[in-house]
Amino acid sequence: MNQEDLASTPETHWRNVIRRRSFLKGVGIATAMVPAGALLATGVKAGVTAASRNESGGRLTSGDVAILQFLAAAEIIETDLWQQYNELGGVNGGNPAYIAALQNLDGDMPQYITDNTDDEVSHAAFLNAYLMSRGAEPVNLDEFRVLPSSKATGASQIGRLTNLQKLVVDTSFFTRYRSEDNPDLGATFKQAVNIVNEPAIPLNDTDTPPDTAQPVPPVTNSARRMQAIANTAGFHFGYIEQGGASLYNSMSVKVTDLEVLRIVVSIGGVEVDHFGLWHDKMGNAVSQPLAGVIDPETGVTFPDLNNPGGELVQTNKILPEPTRFIEGLPLVSIIRPSSTANAGALATIKSFTADRLFEGQGKEFFAKVMALAEAADAAQRRI
Ligand SMILES: [Fe+2]
Ligand SMILES: [Fe+2]
Repeated sequence: MNQEDLASTPETHWRNVIRRRSFLKGVGIATAMVPAGALLATGVKAGVTAASRNESGGRLTSGDVAILQFLAAAEIIETDLWQQYNELGGVNGGNPAYIAALQNLDGDMPQYITDNTDDEVSHAAFLNAYLMSRGAEPVNLDEFRVLPSSKATGASQIGRLTNLQKLVVDTSFFTRYRSEDNPDLGATFKQAVNIVNEPAIPLNDTDTPPDTAQPVPPVTNSARRMQAIANTAGFHFGYIEQGGASLYNSMSVKVTDLEVLRIVVSIGGVEVDHFGLWHDKMGNAVSQPLAGVIDPETGVTFPDLNNPGGELVQTNKILPEPTRFIEGLPLVSIIRPSSTANAGALATIKSFTADRLFEGQGKEFFAKVMALAEAADAAQRRI
């Protein structure tokens, strides 16, 4: 294949997709007048419901709508938590001591936090706009923005969807990605750090004054407390984003429409990018010279994972180890988990709930997100 052919191949491919769409649009318009048997004969499958129409032709299956709606909900939730981090610790963040403690993990943390926030805002807005462009309902969780903001300097006083003030962070992804074992094949993994009931943002200025110096290692109780909070944020960033990477992977194999598939894998790739970044940064909380911070309030401890170390906790092994995937074939470096049971929509909501991310939300909130999750997990690819 010469260079010109290579360049034209994707273009040709998408032109074919559009042509196929135009054909389907024609079929769609004729639907009302054609008996069901004839529709099946033309290739319009029973799973393609009349629920929604596409401006450019074709219809979304109810499964594709459910997938997009759940992903929109997940992105709205992610946006809410990232905005809290961004207000306090982003490039225009308002809490100098929190920013200084985050910068002990990496000097560029404020930039990364702001950029991750921007990404989530764009994901949520795009998915809802796309749903509407194809005649489907967007997702709105505004009625559940009822949780309190941090009282620390820098935080806006507005209602929140998520709670970052008492997290139980599952850090087993840290050992999972360093292991040859695969959770989808039944393996379980140890926590790298035990982070239980720990804030990931400063709570108020009495607990953590915003002008405290944050040397490495921290020498005062206020500085230790703030560093433990920033370290918790570092692990929480990775926890959230590895979940996103697994969720998008698990949803991708249920998608029917080629454009929806393109959206799911294109956004999913950025979730993997986020995870890779945070996986690197969090290691600085548990390696020298910062390792050894103990929160004086909660006792949560960030040990030196390189002492005594070992492959399952070595902090600079941030790229995935090859793992078991398909029986009878070699180990391979992949996102895991990816099964519906371990990485799907319900698994995501259950994991966020165990994280205490929704602490304070009521029955209606859980009913809404669980219904969206069940519908997304039930989606099936139709060909
Ligand atoms: Fe996202
Ligand atoms: Fe993300």
